[in-house]
Amino acid sequence: MKFYIAIFVFLAFSSGVSADVPDCPGPFNPPNNISTQVVYPVSDSLVTFPTGYNCVYQINVPPGWSSHLVVTVFSSSNTTSAPIVQIIDFNQKVENYTSYRWFQKYYFIAPGGKIKLSTQSANVTFQFSVQWYSSITVYQPTFLNVSASDSQPSMVNVSYVNCRVTAETRVSVITMPLDDNWLTRDQADNLRSVLIFDGPNENSTCLGTAYQLWNSNRQFVSTGKTLTIVQLQPLPYVSRSQMLIQDFENTKEIGQYRGVGSLGDRPIVMDASKQAAAFSTYSDAGSSSDCLLNITGTGTLNVYYGGKTDSKSNLIASYSASSNSLNLPQKIRGVVRTYVLTGGIATVQIELNSACNKLTKNVAGFITSPEYKTNLTLPYTSDSQHYYSDGPFKYTFTVQDVDLSQNKSLQISIYNKQTSGFVSVVYNSSNPPILNTVFSGVGNEMDVIYSSPNSNAKKGGFYIDFTATKTKESAAKFFGVIVICAIISSRLF
Ligand SMILES: *[C@@H]1O[C@H](CO)[C@@H](O)[C@H](O)[C@H]1NC(C)=O
Ligand SMILES: *[C@@H]1O[C@H](CO)[C@@H](O)[C@H](O)[C@H]1NC(C)=O
Ligand SMILES: *[C@@H]1O[C@H](CO)[C@@H](O)[C@H](O)[C@H]1NC(C)=O
Ligand SMILES: *[C@@H]1O[C@H](CO)[C@@H](O)[C@H](O)[C@H]1NC(C)=O
Ligand SMILES: *[C@@H]1O[C@H](CO)[C@@H](O)[C@H](O)[C@H]1NC(C)=O
Ligand SMILES: *[C@@H]1O[C@H](CO)[C@@H](O)[C@H](O)[C@H]1NC(C)=O
Ligand SMILES: *[C@@H]1O[C@H](CO)[C@@H](O)[C@H](O)[C@H]1NC(C)=O
Ligand SMILES: *[C@@H]1O[C@H](CO)[C@@H](O)[C@H](O)[C@H]1NC(C)=O
Ligand SMILES: *[C@@H]1O[C@H](CO)[C@@H](O)[C@H](O)[C@H]1NC(C)=O
Ligand SMILES: *[C@@H]1O[C@H](CO)[C@@H](O)[C@H](O)[C@H]1NC(C)=O
Ligand SMILES: *[C@@H]1O[C@H](CO)[C@@H](O)[C@H](O)[C@H]1NC(C)=O
Repeated sequence: MKFYIAIFVFLAFSSGVSADVPDCPGPFNPPNNISTQVVYPVSDSLVTFPTGYNCVYQINVPPGWSSHLVVTVFSSSNTTSAPIVQIIDFNQKVENYTSYRWFQKYYFIAPGGKIKLSTQSANVTFQFSVQWYSSITVYQPTFLNVSASDSQPSMVNVSYVNCRVTAETRVSVITMPLDDNWLTRDQADNLRSVLIFDGPNENSTCLGTAYQLWNSNRQFVSTGKTLTIVQLQPLPYVSRSQMLIQDFENTKEIGQYRGVGSLGDRPIVMDASKQAAAFSTYSDAGSSSDCLLNITGTGTLNVYYGGKTDSKSNLIASYSASSNSLNLPQKIRGVVRTYVLTGGIATVQIELNSACNKLTKNVAGFITSPEYKTNLTLPYTSDSQHYYSDGPFKYTFTVQDVDLSQNKSLQISIYNKQTSGFVSVVYNSSNPPILNTVFSGVGNEMDVIYSSPNSNAKKGGFYIDFTATKTKESAAKFFGVIVICAIISSRLF
């Protein structure tokens, strides 16, 4: 790709033709032979347009057809902040270019759209191509039902998608970009090729693209019970992005709502001053987790394993953003995780699971398996969680809930580097945890392993109240592991 760009830059500066400035042509219509790609201004060389050049290129798309545009822009200077090129789609939605793009892909359906070139004070190298297709859907249709009683949203892979969704009330959809560097051009192009229709097929009103949906920081919601998600031709890139689909009954109170794909260190700003605000993250089969690092601001942040539910059957934690004793970080498991803020404005920081594994400060929270409270059957034989620290910590646990049926077991081990001490507790159905027993030990490492000999067994999972407190090196020498039997008067929630 770098090589390609290099060649392009070379062409832009050395062989861009500026002597013969093309006329501003009339509308572009499908050619008689639709296999033919139409290229403007010319296909075999790149043309540089002079300063002060303006033209609007109209691309017509007949009903039931689709078109694929590839646009290239390169400006001789970055002197202006006004857009050099605007892409105006079939819904009059606008994307602006202020500097340069190479081979950026767009998709238009009927009635078509426009490309607006205004070079202003720059010399602009510009070219686009259009390919028409006499259909919108190309992939085999799939069908999906969602219901207000589902606590777990449905995920639809956007690659080759032609999915008809039926809800009990109305369909809610958000885009869930998954790639770490998803904002790279390929991901944006890919999400532009996915259209969402407000009805049972592609003849319904188009609400917009998956890319516009992601940028909107809102849900798209069907007016009736059905919604259709379609990826247009040509053959898509294979994408890891997904659409997250729920019954609107569960999400109707949410205003701002988006999918958070790459869990960088970036803060997520949530404005729930007027309406609840939310974001969701996703990990295939619960294989990775979020590390909730920080919440600042005001309001209450509820964290669900799955989607937001009125019953709160899958609520896992609730934080008051203004409280300064949050005792974070906290590892968040589940497959879909939904964070819902109400009554305030807050900034939330999440990172990849590994950030929670190293203990650097006192924490108070919980440890769960990924399927806890989800009613999902996740195929695994062993779920391991590892915590470690440089200095010794005192770990304290209370097992609040655990499914030990069908030979499942839960093992908690603490390793003390100073004394080379190792302690381990294994719970199984013949040795279940005694309710409200507090287990405590000092060490530098802790493992929690939940095993099931049958990987496909339904697992209820576990929930452990957990604290880790920094201790002095000297204290660690004398600490073994103690088990305190005590009645805890209240759970965390
Ligand atoms: C249509 O265009 C394609 C590609 O340009 C070409 O291969 C094909 O021969 C053309 N068909 C006709 C009937 O001209
Ligand atoms: C315009 O800005 C982009 C990045 O913002 C830079 O890579 C590019 O070289 C600039 N172009 C010119 C001609 O200065
Ligand atoms: C695009 O540019 C126009 C003109 O500067 C501006 O009014 C509009 O808000 C911009 N749109 C987007 C989506 O950035
Ligand atoms: C645009 O191109 C013309 C002709 O090559 C040149 O004289 C002029 O300096 C260029 N302007 C800019 C802003 O690059
Ligand atoms: C969705 O629900 C309809 C009507 O209840 C039913 O006929 C259909 O089989 C369901 N489809 C799926 C994929 O569950
Ligand atoms: C969409 O409309 C076109 C033209 O009216 C029709 O030929 C086609 O069958 C319709 N598609 C569906 C899925 O109803
Ligand atoms: C999405 O579908 C493509 C093509 O079928 C597949 O290669 C890819 O692994 C899928 N992605 C996910 C996350 O399931
Ligand atoms: C959380 O954010 C606040 C405000 O930005 C900052 O003072 C604090 O250090 C942060 N805490 C963590 C654990 O990052
Ligand atoms: C859990 O899932 C099973 C199917 O695997 C279903 O029969 C049961 O009703 C579900 N329970 C709840 C509480 O949703
Ligand atoms: C549990 O283990 C015992 C002994 O290995 C075995 O006989 C039994 O079938 C197992 N039960 C299940 C449900 O896997
Ligand atoms: C539980 O663990 C003990 C000790 O490891 C073992 O002897 C016993 O067989 C286990 N019981 C079951 C049901 O797996």
